[in-house]
Amino acid sequence: MAVHGRMLVMQLIIAVAIAAAAADRTPPRQARPNCPDHCGNLTIPYPFGIGKGCFLRNGFNLTCNETAKPPTTLWGDGSFTVTNILLAEGELEVMNNISHDCYDKQGNQTKDMYNFPSLRLQPPFTISGTRNKFIAVGCDNWAIFKGYRHYPHDEDRYITGCITVCNNLDSVVNGSCSGIGCCQTAIPSGLKNGTVKLDSYSQHTAVWDNNPCSYAFIVEEGRFTFNPKTSFEELNNTKKLPVIINWAIHEGSCALAQNSSGYACKANSSCVNRTVDYQTEPTGYYCQCLPGFEGNPYLPDGCQDIDECMAPSSPCNNGICQNSPGGYSCLCNKGFKNQDSKICIKNTPVSKNIPLKISMGLSIGFFILVVLIWWTYCGMNKRRLVRLKEKYFEENGGLTLQQHLASHGGSIETVEIFTAEELQKATNNYHADEILGEGGYATVYKGIVHDKNVVAIKKPKIGTPTQSDQFVNEIIVLSQINHRNVVKLLGCCFETEVPLLVYEYITHGTLFEHVFNKGKGSSLSWELRLKIASETAGALAYLHSATSTPIIHRDVKTTNILLDDNYTAKVSDFGASRFIPLDQTQLSTLVQGTLGYLDPEYFHSNQLTEKSDVYSFGVVLAELLTSRVALSFARPDKERCLASFFVSSIENECLIQILDADIVNEENIETVEQVAILAKRCLMIKSEERPTMKDVAMELEGMRIMAKHPWKNGNSGFEETEYLLGSPNSAAYVMDIGGGGAGGSSVTNTGYDSMQIQMLMPYDDGR
Ligand SMILES: *[C@@H]1O[C@H](CO)[C@@H](O)[C@H](O)[C@H]1NC(C)=O
Ligand SMILES: *[C@@H]1O[C@H](CO)[C@@H](O)[C@H](O)[C@H]1NC(C)=O
Ligand SMILES: *[C@@H]1O[C@H](CO)[C@@H](O)[C@H](O)[C@H]1NC(C)=O
Ligand SMILES: *[C@@H]1O[C@H](CO)[C@@H](O)[C@H](O)[C@H]1NC(C)=O
Ligand SMILES: *[C@@H]1O[C@H](CO)[C@@H](O)[C@H](O)[C@H]1NC(C)=O
Ligand SMILES: *[C@@H]1O[C@H](CO)[C@@H](O)[C@H](O)[C@H]1NC(C)=O
Ligand SMILES: *[C@@H]1O[C@H](CO)[C@@H](O)[C@H](O)[C@H]1NC(C)=O
Ligand SMILES: *[C@@H]1O[C@H](CO)[C@@H](O)[C@H](O)[C@H]1NC(C)=O
Ligand SMILES: *[C@@H]1O[C@H](CO)[C@@H](O)[C@H](O)[C@H]1NC(C)=O
Ligand SMILES: *[C@@H]1O[C@H](CO)[C@@H](O)[C@H](O)[C@H]1NC(C)=O
Ligand SMILES: *[C@@H]1O[C@H](CO)[C@@H](O)[C@H](O)[C@H]1NC(C)=O
Repeated sequence: MAVHGRMLVMQLIIAVAIAAAAADRTPPRQARPNCPDHCGNLTIPYPFGIGKGCFLRNGFNLTCNETAKPPTTLWGDGSFTVTNILLAEGELEVMNNISHDCYDKQGNQTKDMYNFPSLRLQPPFTISGTRNKFIAVGCDNWAIFKGYRHYPHDEDRYITGCITVCNNLDSVVNGSCSGIGCCQTAIPSGLKNGTVKLDSYSQHTAVWDNNPCSYAFIVEEGRFTFNPKTSFEELNNTKKLPVIINWAIHEGSCALAQNSSGYACKANSSCVNRTVDYQTEPTGYYCQCLPGFEGNPYLPDGCQDIDECMAPSSPCNNGICQNSPGGYSCLCNKGFKNQDSKICIKNTPVSKNIPLKISMGLSIGFFILVVLIWWTYCGMNKRRLVRLKEKYFEENGGLTLQQHLASHGGSIETVEIFTAEELQKATNNYHADEILGEGGYATVYKGIVHDKNVVAIKKPKIGTPTQSDQFVNEIIVLSQINHRNVVKLLGCCFETEVPLLVYEYITHGTLFEHVFNKGKGSSLSWELRLKIASETAGALAYLHSATSTPIIHRDVKTTNILLDDNYTAKVSDFGASRFIPLDQTQLSTLVQGTLGYLDPEYFHSNQLTEKSDVYSFGVVLAELLTSRVALSFARPDKERCLASFFVSSIENECLIQILDADIVNEENIETVEQVAILAKRCLMIKSEERPTMKDVAMELEGMRIMAKHPWKNGNSGFEETEYLLGSPNSAAYVMDIGGGGAGGSSVTNTGYDSMQIQMLMPYDDGR
């Protein structure tokens, strides 16, 4: 009897074990045991949870409102509705209020306006900078977004904004938020709270008939598509749009957390650092299941092996699949073999007819031999010519270029290789009439290639020893750049005794000519000077930061800034430029540059940094302000070097005496002074005291827009307005007319006009 009983118990245990194994097939539970794992149809994965003991810690608690239809998941202080939890990405999708600003026909605000919706988060939750956009919709509004960052100080404030002004929405491209009726801008990462403010220039009175309301909001990228016909009504009805929130487990990197007792990533999972773009130290971490595993990395045994063999179509087409932890392998059928120990591929059958193969091989070999001998004979003569060209190719640095391209994986597909004959024809055999300009190293000719395209051809003077390298350097630098304010390299030619470079032809000469040879053309107006300065600064900032490897121009001066018909600045002459590898912030080089523009610190230390370009650009600014050349021995001793004379004039408060009287007037004197102060900062002797090129570009662009759009001076009661109006010395601005991004900066008169503003407020104003 007792024996019988024991067997029954055994059977029971086996049955339970089998049942447990079968249960393993169902998707792994996402919540802690005895905790609700969903609300409505939203799965609630741990570390989030509903109810006591079900969530990791304060901030991860959710509430399910079962009475709502459908049930809603509440988060935070209960004001947020969660619509998705992305466990593997450490993201939370919540609904956020949008800002409304509505007017009646008389220009009075109506009751359904709703302004200043705010997002307030507690650490470790932040508004995602990569997955959200700030968007404003309407035809007569400006919208700004103000946010605070956690790190390194709670008070770090960031303001960004955009403006749209349009007469009508007829010309809007469907689906595009490109500046007419809709503008958008990026927001930085790591913001812990934010407010949206919306206001109007003329209370929508001019556009009321078809646009009584404007809207502004932070929204998950891709979740709002602007449609001029339907968007306004939709926004009026929805009131909320999804926003992505980043979360992390602890404030600290993986390396720190892995040693601590509260480490949250369980077996078969890995740790991911949560980083923000403005600091290198991670601000927290989250967990992911290892490749080949799925489930919840925060639960013990949460990450379960994926049984790849159970997939609807087995990964081993012609074999037997064997699952293993974190992967699988294939036992291939006869006639198939394993590739990468994964898929089964057909074995190529070995031919049995060996004698036939040998005889065929022999006859083919013989045929090839005959062709080879004949070809060698014919090729002898040709090769002698080719060798000469090859010699030039080598001497001219073609090899250096090839090596560089090979080691950097780059390509110069955009650069056309011209033959010597083509360029000779293009320039009428380098006729003196075609000379555009002459410098120390090279002569520049005007030419026509492909029978129609006007180009500028740079021909070095024979005999300067290091110049081949300089030319190759210029090709390498320019082939990596595509910027509207950098002169385009169209092609090159190595086959001649000296290498030739072919550029786009810039019609209007150099900035030097326009500023100093007043007889030659119009003296430039202040607006044009500011535009040129701003574009040049933009191009240099781009070289310093936007390219894969920072590029230092090293020879910024007015003769290297070309102007086209529209007075668009084009930075040229990259013969001296250098890449700075990302792991280095400075480079020791032979001092090179132009006297009068040369960074004194670089001159003494030989340490090349981006700040050397900032100094040279400061000199260009001083030249634009004063219309005096950088260095002139015709001037009295203390005025000889413009840079130091300019700085001392500002310090002695007699700036006004050296400004070009032709360009200054009552309206622009304030901007002129601001630019002068900026120039002075660029000319600081200590390079670390100079602003970065990016800051300079932002400030100049800001001043330009300010000069063009004096801000509406409303009694809005919003503290930030004063920053928008006030002294840009304490704030940097980036404005981007056209709304789309890196687009153009020309204001058109087709009845619309929009811009984006970003201002970065330094916390301690230490610069
Ligand atoms: C969840 O519920 C909503 C509303 O009931 C429905 O629209 C949605 O399709 C559901 N999602 C899933 C994944 O079932
Ligand atoms: C739950 O939803 C219902 C219906 O929308 C609402 O009346 C109630 O106030 C909500 N409860 C909570 C706690 O938010
Ligand atoms: C989460 O817990 C905090 C503190 O106990 C509480 O104030 C908050 O309302 C809770 N949130 C939700 C959505 O239940
Ligand atoms: C959105 O607006 C409603 C009503 O004004 C308010 O109750 C709610 O707290 C707001 N939500 C958030 C996330 O601020
Ligand atoms: C707002 O409306 C009132 C009466 O409805 C009117 O007196 C007032 O002038 C209006 N204000 C503006 C700015 O139009
Ligand atoms: C955001 O945080 C800052 C700094 O803690 C605080 O001064 C500000 O009032 C907060 N703003 C909102 C809208 O909560
Ligand atoms: C704009 O796009 C929407 C959705 O893609 C479409 O329904 C509508 O017909 C389009 N309107 C025009 C004018 O093309
Ligand atoms: C917005 O919607 C409300 C009702 O939800 C309506 O009364 C109002 O007229 C609408 N406003 C506009 C500008 O469409
Ligand atoms: C996380 O960041 C720390 C500190 O920067 C670093 O040491 C560690 O290797 C990183 N870990 C991972 C998994 O990226
Ligand atoms: C973590 O602990 C190991 C040994 O327990 C130690 O070697 C390592 O330096 C510690 N790492 C950190 C970041 O504290
Ligand atoms: C990782 O997963 C494998 C397969 O599911 C399992 O056998 C192993 O025990 C897991 N590792 C740990 C440390 O739990």
